[in-house]
Amino acid sequence: MGKVIMVAGRGGSGKTTVSANLSYAFSKLNKNVLVIDCDFGMRCTDLLFGVENEIVYNINDVLQKNCTFDDAVIKINDKLSFISAPQNITFDMADYNLFNSFLTEKKQQYDYIVLDLTASITDFMTKFIKFADQLLIVGVCDFQNARVVEKLAFYGEKANIKNINLVINKVFVDKFKKNGIIDINEFIGLTAVTPIGVCPYDVVVTKGSIVVDNKKSICGKSYLNIARRIDGEKVPLLNV
Ligand SMILES: Nc1ncnc2c1ncn2[C@@H]1O[C@H](COP(=O)(O)OP(=O)(O)O)[C@@H](O)[C@H]1O
Ligand SMILES: [Mg+2]
Repeated sequence: MGKVIMVAGRGGSGKTTVSANLSYAFSKLNKNVLVIDCDFGMRCTDLLFGVENEIVYNINDVLQKNCTFDDAVIKINDKLSFISAPQNITFDMADYNLFNSFLTEKKQQYDYIVLDLTASITDFMTKFIKFADQLLIVGVCDFQNARVVEKLAFYGEKANIKNINLVINKVFVDKFKKNGIIDINEFIGLTAVTPIGVCPYDVVVTKGSIVVDNKKSICGKSYLNIARRIDGEKVPLLNV
């Protein structure tokens, strides 16, 4: 039985970057992965995989049976499948029960189903996260992000999600630079959410592609480490 991993956080914190790279990292660990762009109306995951010209159907088409599951899937590699978000409706307009049945069914087929969520914390979203086995909250080291992380963790706890973790993103590894507007340890203390990964600020990432195999990327290893930790391996956190 697979695991549903939802990736949430403030707009611009790095949800899409983490979702796409983490999914790719899982595929490198030989896991069967399905990644779904749930940022309805603002899809971006396709760009990171470079498949923007291949999209015909989206996840809402699958839920509404406008197409088959296979019609909507874009294969990124042998182990990694991707389904895009619709552009013409908002996430709140998705059918809650159909989505639940879909995830329950696909958990039989995939080791991991990664959902790249929208930034808006709506009533629908706070109910939807109940279907997550693990909630990853992506945050950069500033007070606004700390507040969003705390709020999402609150909703995650309310929804009884057992594993709620923090991915600290865009951390400066240059010891002469500050880590962010607030120090990484202060950020962890403020949010009170258990960290599962630290991703350095990386110019290679800003170019907008998958960096896991890119030797020039200082972030690639972080995504692999997060995948390993989720998969139960003990991997120490990056020391910054
Ligand atoms: N570790 C990182 N280092 C540098 N830039 C990053 C990093 N992670 C994400 N970014 C950049 O931050 C911006 C927002 O990232 P994105 O994943 O689209 O955020 P979200 O999905 O949360 O809105 C993008 O330009 C992306 O390239
Ligand atoms: Mg996004």
